Amino acid sequence: MKKFIKLIIPSSIIEPTIRTVRGFQTSLLYAFLRLATKSQFLSSLYYALFSNAFAREHRGCIYGQLKYLEDCENAQGSQYLLRRNVHRLEKGLLMRPRRNLFATDYITETFRGYEQALAKQSTCAADVGEIGWAHDVLSQYFTIVSSHPVVDGLRDQFSTLKQIEQVELPRIPYKRNLNEPCSVDYDDFLKLSYRRRSVRWYLQKPVSRNLIDQAITIAALSPSACNRQPFEFRIFDDPEMVKKVASIPIGTKGFSDNFPVIIVVVGKLRAYFSERDRHVIYIDGSLASMSFMLALETLGLSSCPINWPDMESKEKEMSALLGLEFDERPIMLISVGYPDPDGMVAYSHKKSLEQLRRYN
Ligand SMILES: Cc1cc2nc3c(=O)[nH]c(=O)nc-3n(C[C@H](O)[C@H](O)[C@H](O)COP(=O)(O)O)c2cc1C
Repeated sequence: MKKFIKLIIPSSIIEPTIRTVRGFQTSLLYAFLRLATKSQFLSSLYYALFSNAFAREHRGCIYGQLKYLEDCENAQGSQYLLRRNVHRLEKGLLMRPRRNLFATDYITETFRGYEQALAKQSTCAADVGEIGWAHDVLSQYFTIVSSHPVVDGLRDQFSTLKQIEQVELPRIPYKRNLNEPCSVDYDDFLKLSYRRRSVRWYLQKPVSRNLIDQAITIAALSPSACNRQPFEFRIFDDPEMVKKVASIPIGTKGFSDNFPVIIVVVGKLRAYFSERDRHVIYIDGSLASMSFMLALETLGLSSCPINWPDMESKEKEMSALLGLEFDERPIMLISVGYPDPDGMVAYSHKKSLEQLRRYN
């Protein structure tokens, strides 16, 4: 049809017409966007009527909240509510000055979460380390906190619960030994940071899972909001799977075939009771990923972070391949391997101090 139109109408007429139509479309879009920015209601209306770009996120948030509530009842393994509340108790315990009474508004739900986790311990579904941490923090809390109708009842119940195996050092707030200087000096860290580059060409040599585990051990030490660690590293080293996973994102064209390992960092919205924290998966997942990539360099491996576009078709493809639930959102991908010495890396000029920082 297009060819036919081009044949019968001269290009001196077609091209200005196309420009006029495109100009009209752009003006219309501008008008729509301007109107939609006038209020939150109009913005929401815009997305309700003209774009489904946030539809998956909406479903993910709601699905995550449902999962959160279900997990509070019957969590298998780690329990996000317990992790958050034990973290809050720890903050109360290290507060200066420490108050005689705190956490009365959430100690009951913390205690119930602990009880449930303890009950699951026998089924092996519970996270033993997490329960031990919760036990030690609760134990100190009940020891130091003053009398209160809510606390007193729980204190009695706590003393009747099954005892946890004692560890040498209780898992409670402590003072760090700062007499020793930091064992990594600034210059070494600077060198490591210069050394890490986004590497896209790798030797065709298998990567030991043990090395990946070592790097994840370091990633696990990264900060995360309320210590919830709402992410998982999904690692693929089977060549068939690597090929499939690596071909989904947009930014891997031309070099995805040579990845020995590809990792999908997956965030879990089930860690939150409200959508107010929906961005935290990206922050926590990225902080852990940065530590992971630096750790890889110390082990002789290199990496490249790969963008995950929030596009429905891509999300669907990745979810199907990885068997993700609706609240599980890819944060980014990371290719990993031994760097090919013949492969170049981009110069990637970095911004100056002046461009990046502003005081007060
Ligand atoms: C979130 C994120 C997404 C990225 N996505 C891609 C990508 O899709 N493809 C790619 O080749 N590089 C990707 N990169 C790598 C960047 O291009 C690279 O970090 C940047 O150019 C700076 O280079 P450097 O890492 O060597 O310092 C990504 C990096 C980040 C942090």
